[in-house]
Amino acid sequence: MSAVTARAHPNIALIKYWGKKDEELILPVAGSLSLTLDAFATTTSVELREGLAEDRLELDGLVRDGEQLARVSAFLDHVRSLAGASGRAVVRSVNEAPTAAGLASSASGFAALAMAASAAYGLDLDARGLSRLARRGSGSAARSLVDGVAVWHAGTDDESSYAEAVPAPPMGMVIATVDGGPKAVSSREAMRRTVQTSPYFSAWVSSTEDYLERMVTACRAGDFTTIGQLTEAHALRMHALIASTEPPIRYLRPRSVEVFDAVAGLREDGVEAWATADAGPNVAVLVQPQGAAETAARLAAIVGVDQVRVVGAGPGAHLLPE
Ligand code: DP6
Repeated sequence: MSAVTARAHPNIALIKYWGKKDEELILPVAGSLSLTLDAFATTTSVELREGLAEDRLELDGLVRDGEQLARVSAFLDHVRSLAGASGRAVVRSVNEAPTAAGLASSASGFAALAMAASAAYGLDLDARGLSRLARRGSGSAARSLVDGVAVWHAGTDDESSYAEAVPAPPMGMVIATVDGGPKAVSSREAMRRTVQTSPYFSAWVSSTEDYLERMVTACRAGDFTTIGQLTEAHALRMHALIASTEPPIRYLRPRSVEVFDAVAGLREDGVEAWATADAGPNVAVLVQPQGAAETAARLAAIVGVDQVRVVGAGPGAHLLPE
């Protein structure tokens, strides 16, 4: 059988997902909201092949085994169980952002895999079904199925936990790469530690629900200032929460904090820019299209010209023609 190929992009959360209430189904403790980017694509092909004893994974041209293969194979087992199929597959995946550079994401990876694998195994899923499927690989992948701004409803079970589009004003991001190295603690492990040990966890859940409601309202109203304020405040709350685990985890580096300060300086100079960071030291700065160039120039002075990238809102995961 010929291969089915799909492409997906990472998303950056403006309201963060941090903590699961069901690890098996990947149900989050609260909803979240993100912007899908138009850069750093992952392109993945899935080819069913007769006679293979186990799935095969090629990532950026190298055959992978161990944990990486196990995670992809477990995901394909779920697809096979939905499709009533048993055949193994060859998965080839290429990241435009190098996997080790801290920008490649499990979101684009599992969004592209969900799209390609469901087509290869003949599943006929609608947009919600695809988002739910991608979620089973990595929570944030549920949002990379969606164009532009996506809200992921936490839901109460497998059926009700999915992402869908929210209307929003034009916005983009300036990504400042502070450190390209791999993370000290994976987000999956750090999330688990947070749920188990942070004394602030219940406050995080309730304040995230409140922020999400306000964020969706601001997006629908096209209110960029409120979107930015909520984005930066929620990111700092997440990093404070993560720092409250036992043992503590801190992802932001001195240079990340410098970028946050520079973004505050841009605002004083009349450029609407707001900073956020995921489970790592790199900073994504939310801007309106007219603020992107000045923001990029200001951040380049801190992290270097090569470490700054201006990106726009991008498309959800989609199949590529054969
Ligand atoms: C900080 O989606 O990578 O980027 O569901 O365990 O695979 P798993 O976690 P993942 O976590 C993303 C965490 C985050 C915030 C976000 O994207 O909302």
